[in-house]
Amino acid sequence: MKLFYEKTFNLRHPVHDDLDEIMKLEEKCFPKEHRETAKTYEGRIKDFPEGALLLSCNNKIIGNIFGEIWKKDNFSFNLNHRTSDFLNKKGNILYISSFVITARYRKHFLGVFLLKEYLEYMKKSFPAVSECKLLVYRGWTRALNLYLKSGFSVEDKYEKYIIMNKKFKPAA
Ligand SMILES: CC(C)(COP(=O)(O)OP(=O)(O)OC[C@H]1O[C@@H](n2cnc3c(N)ncnc32)[C@H](O)[C@@H]1OP(=O)(O)O)[C@@H](O)C(=O)NCCC(=O)NCCS
Repeated sequence: MKLFYEKTFNLRHPVHDDLDEIMKLEEKCFPKEHRETAKTYEGRIKDFPEGALLLSCNNKIIGNIFGEIWKKDNFSFNLNHRTSDFLNKKGNILYISSFVITARYRKHFLGVFLLKEYLEYMKKSFPAVSECKLLVYRGWTRALNLYLKSGFSVEDKYEKYIIMNKKFKPAA
């Protein structure tokens, strides 16, 4: 038996061949009405692979984070919107469109780790980005707490969901 801390964790960008595993995570981690389609993820992988990270453990994908970059006047919080309709790599807003850790690996700070690594990597790779936004459904307490602990604030509250925001400090 291997202990948790003896496992090897890895971060990398997704490729088309990861789609099946990504969709398995989507099915396991989100209720039906909040799931996005394989077509949506296929578009994300094709149009902006450098805006996503997969977390794997001993070569098995156990978590992911996907994002896109928007300009202020062209964006959409809708599920299953097409990344290519809104992506502008010179934009100022980083939008996190998906973020999951598979249930077996939760509560080991891997979510905190993946989010932190992702934000640092995106800030470095896209220096024009000055803030990050995301949408979290009311009742998803674990995710909401994780975002608050990671420096996000509530930007807007709606009946079913909350928009959160984190401003980036300008590079010194
Ligand atoms: C949200 C999600 C990604 C968090 O992943 P995670 O790996 O469990 O997150 P972490 O372990 O980093 O942190 C979660 C909590 O566990 C706590 N924790 C982490 N490791 C711990 C440990 N070893 N001992 C005790 N507590 C621990 C953290 O302090 C945090 O506590 P809180 O919930 O009281 O704030 C995961 O729950 C998930 O995939 N949920 C379903 C999909 C989802 O809701 N995605 C977000 C969409 S907006």
